[in-house]
Amino acid sequence: MDWGLQNRLSRFISPKTGHTVMLAVDHGYFLGPTSMLERPGETITPLIPYADTIMLTRGVLRRCIDPCQEVPVVLRVSGGTSIVGGQLSNEGIMTCMDDAFRLNACGVALSIFVGTPHERVTLLNMSKLVDEGEERGMPVVAVTAVGKELGKRDARFLGLCCRIAAELGVHLVKTYYCDDFEKVVDGCPAPIVVAGGPKIPEKEALELTYKAIQGGAIGVDMGRNIWQSDNPIGMIKAVRAIVHDGANIREAITVLGSSQKGRSAKKSSKKKKK
Ligand code: 5RP
Repeated sequence: MDWGLQNRLSRFISPKTGHTVMLAVDHGYFLGPTSMLERPGETITPLIPYADTIMLTRGVLRRCIDPCQEVPVVLRVSGGTSIVGGQLSNEGIMTCMDDAFRLNACGVALSIFVGTPHERVTLLNMSKLVDEGEERGMPVVAVTAVGKELGKRDARFLGLCCRIAAELGVHLVKTYYCDDFEKVVDGCPAPIVVAGGPKIPEKEALELTYKAIQGGAIGVDMGRNIWQSDNPIGMIKAVRAIVHDGANIREAITVLGSSQKGRSAKKSSKKKKK
């Protein structure tokens, strides 16, 4: 692997643990001002010290995030559709590689929509992105999109999506936890991170994280179950404990409970747990 590409990957996948906690805050690109991301900077900034990377669009990055923050950035580069347009899977590339470099990104992310009429276009877009990424040393993350119009969120469907992404040459695959998750990991030569999905109780989200790591995921790319929690800092710290420190669910819940509820980092330790 090219030195620059490897170096960018190691900025957000810890060379020490081989794992990563990616904070997903890109939801507005098709959902608009979704709950707790109405003012993205206020939600994201206190969580940055605990994230290995933030995944977001260039607009929110430029407008809402202090460029002096040291956090690595994975830039979402696919989009062009909305929750109300009725054609969610019809995404194109909305941010070019030059801008990703200008923004000092350490990765670019694009959704693929396997099982939809737009699967071919999104897979070809992915291939193009991988060509550019390999040529210029930029890691590419595949987001295996799920939704009502797509296949069932089971090991067979997610295994298909992840394997196709890996065959196209991506460097990291983001998918969802499911029963028989090990089969998804086994069939995918690229490393996998899991999304959290819609908000569920904290304990369940920590269980999901634990089971995903046990099943072979190298980490999470989690959003709503962190920043829609009453205790977002406690949640990201608890997720970190599982992903990087090998904590079990009971230990993670202790970490969650030891963090004061609220959205400000002021009362919590600002030290990054790396
Ligand atoms: C949307 C995304 C999100 O980043 C992804 O769903 C992760 O966030 P969450 O944990 O809230 O599901 O890629 O397409």
